[in-house]
Amino acid sequence: MLELGVLVSGSGSNLQAILDAVAEGRLDAHVRVVVSNKPDVLAIERAARAGVPTVVVPHREFSTREAFDQKLVDVLTRAGVEHVVLAGFMRVLTPVFLRAFAGKVINIHPSLLPAFPGVRAQAQALERGVKVTGCTVHFVDEGVDTGPIIAQRAVPVLDGDTVETLTQRILEQEHVLMVEALSRVSAGLT
Ligand code: GAR
Repeated sequence: MLELGVLVSGSGSNLQAILDAVAEGRLDAHVRVVVSNKPDVLAIERAARAGVPTVVVPHREFSTREAFDQKLVDVLTRAGVEHVVLAGFMRVLTPVFLRAFAGKVINIHPSLLPAFPGVRAQAQALERGVKVTGCTVHFVDEGVDTGPIIAQRAVPVLDGDTVETLTQRILEQEHVLMVEALSRVSAGLT
């Protein structure tokens, strides 16, 4: 059973996919805590609705990235978390965090890595004119979107796509991919 902590910054639709899969017995995991760096985001509401403890850690209240990361480590450790999922968490983590959860941090990214790392991945795909993009779940290392890949899904880019339509088409596949990738981790297949 995976003992998960989920870090979020926004709408939390990938968090919802995890919560639904756990509730329906499709994923052998327990979400121990959801941590957001932003207050009042939908992700926090989704966690609360599912009865999962939530903690807001506003990054602006910390003078360094390392101090913010240490606070995250403390919150997650106290909650009994073993694996951390970054589900739309929009902060880059420092070695302070990554060494505390070495090999146990999992991120979802809206492109077929190694293509289009970093921010605005969907816009980068449109600007480059690729015909296929997708999403990736990978272990996080000290680079940006560079760690070992767990699973990927391809998504076509269609004529007339905008950032919004492409983002939505990728997001639908992210929700499937997230559960598939966590199931692989849970089964020790990585
Ligand atoms: C998702 O598309 C995720 O892949 C992306 O943010 C969105 C969060 O949506 N993450 C990144 O771009 C990380 N660099 P959600 O809050 O509805 O899960």
